[in-house]
Amino acid sequence: MKEQSDYQTVNMKNIIHTFKYWPCIFRLLWKSDSKRLMAIIFLTVLSGIMPMMTLIASQNLINAVVIHMNQKFDYILRAFLFLVVVSLFSEVIQAVRGHHEMLFRNILQHQINVSIMDKAIHLQLEDFENAEVYDKLQRAQNEANYRPYQVFSSILGVLGGVVTFLSAAAVLLSWRWWVVCILLFIPLISSIYFVKIGQHEFWIQWVRAPRYRKSWYLNFLLTRDTAFKEIKLFNLGKHLLEKYKKINTEFIQEDKRLLKRRTILTLVFQTLNQFAGDMIVLMILWSAFHGEILVGSVVAYIRAVSLTQSHSQGILSSIFSIYQNNLYIKQLFEFLELPLRKPLDVETEKTPGKIHTIEFRNVSFRYPGTEDYVLKNVSFTIHENEIIALVGKNGSGKTTLVKLLTKLYPLDEGDIFINGISINELNTYELRERIGVVFQDFVRYELTMKENIGFGNLKYLDNNEKLMASAELTGLFDIIEKMPKKLDTQLGKWFEEGYQLSGGQWQKTALARAFVRDADVYILDEPSAALDPLAESEMFQKFFELTNQKIGLFISHRFCTVKHAKKIIVLDKGQIVERGNHEELIKANGLYASLYNVQARLWKEIDFPMQYHKREA
Ligand SMILES: Nc1ncnc2c1ncn2[C@@H]1O[C@H](COP(=O)(O)OP(=O)(O)O)[C@@H](O)[C@H]1O
Ligand SMILES: [Mg+2]
Repeated sequence: MKEQSDYQTVNMKNIIHTFKYWPCIFRLLWKSDSKRLMAIIFLTVLSGIMPMMTLIASQNLINAVVIHMNQKFDYILRAFLFLVVVSLFSEVIQAVRGHHEMLFRNILQHQINVSIMDKAIHLQLEDFENAEVYDKLQRAQNEANYRPYQVFSSILGVLGGVVTFLSAAAVLLSWRWWVVCILLFIPLISSIYFVKIGQHEFWIQWVRAPRYRKSWYLNFLLTRDTAFKEIKLFNLGKHLLEKYKKINTEFIQEDKRLLKRRTILTLVFQTLNQFAGDMIVLMILWSAFHGEILVGSVVAYIRAVSLTQSHSQGILSSIFSIYQNNLYIKQLFEFLELPLRKPLDVETEKTPGKIHTIEFRNVSFRYPGTEDYVLKNVSFTIHENEIIALVGKNGSGKTTLVKLLTKLYPLDEGDIFINGISINELNTYELRERIGVVFQDFVRYELTMKENIGFGNLKYLDNNEKLMASAELTGLFDIIEKMPKKLDTQLGKWFEEGYQLSGGQWQKTALARAFVRDADVYILDEPSAALDPLAESEMFQKFFELTNQKIGLFISHRFCTVKHAKKIIVLDKGQIVERGNHEELIKANGLYASLYNVQARLWKEIDFPMQYHKREA
């Protein structure tokens, strides 16, 4: 809410404060294309002078006609040619300037988008799961990324406008200097009101961000394939569309009110300006009537009045636009300058080397901004050549354990040691390089099969042999062989010639991606949800082979695989409540035994008809 009070009052301090980011903008502009930048500025000044040149040329021409009428046509012709040349030159400058501005705009936009994305990849999971940071990212992306160009373009507008205004005013200045003062006065007054409105508009955009995000999401849901089936089956279409409409109708209502204020103000300002201009024109005509000035000068002065008027308006709206864009630019640079959180991505020199042991020591964890412990005093050790199965109900903290081990979240209390070294001291990239993980919510990249597997190890992205070997481990080999372009087949449905995989096949792809890594530790977080029992049993067989001389950690609800692990750890509400092998845990008759028995009973019920048939036979 702090921002609110900042933006609600217009005072000099706040206005000046919005210029804080100008050095950043100029650095950005300069970095994008310094030569073109200079060229554009030069051309802007030049084109600012052109209206005045045209004006003088036409004044000359008319006066030449009046003076040399019926006498010397070559004088008139000369004045005419001068006008033609000036007009032509003016056109050429406009065209060249437009060309460079268009190019510069694209280059700058590209530069900014890259900066935003580059920043995004350096953020932490914690940031992405934080609504405030996410809003910042959205604001920077949706409402701010084009602003630096607008500021630049408005500065050019002011520059060109001032040059034209001054040169046109110079024409009037020789006639009556105070006329220029009148022409300046009205725009100055009205500018104060426009700044106020600008602030209000900005504030409305600002509070809109969360609703805007929601509306974007609804739009996304309704127009992508991901939710289509459910939307049809549950008949959600109308409901979601109504929600979307509600939000956007609110926006339109707000815009209406704002626009009304703006239009009224513009109208009042223009009427005043028009009136002042008309009075001055009347004075010019009065002078001409008394023979003080020539017809050419009458035309020139009237033209100069309308030039100064239209440009004083132009300058003002440019200044207003600069001010308004300044407010938005704050969002862009605030995002780009978000401090990177500490120890996670710190480039320490310490590398873990081949991982022989992982030790969780008294690890307790709360998600940032929440009160409840998700993990409490968790301690266990895994050694090389060991596979640990982690079981527990939903929400018991299993996935969180993996997030901590892979440094996706910073440790809160306690420590995790890799080969005896705290992970806080280890180089994050090198640690992650040695761990292959399949998360529950793995990604289905709408890219080629090759990339879907190769992303697990960019070194092997073009090594078909390695990729296929990994595919073999997860039972994908035959499927890929049958695909139209084998490894180069586009997957998914978003792009042309996409080959849609089944849920289980996607899961196998994610597994292959983890397995292609030359890791020392392989972690599977409920990898078998979409696999049929046969595929699961085969996959685990391979997993056991793969983790030979390595470390394996798998999280699963299927006890037929869990029971084969030598070490089973049972988590409940963030605490380790039992550990041991299958027989020991059954004997202990605790949580594990009860979870196991529930499943075993289900199997028996399903098995029953088969037994019945057997007996018959
Ligand atoms: N990003 C998060 N922010 C806050 N709470 C979270 C977050 N992710 C998970 N939780 C909470 O932490 C608890 C454990 O989650 P998780 O480790 O995913 O459980 P499991 O994998 O055992 O099903 C759950 O109660 C969940 O609501
Ligand atoms: Mg989980």
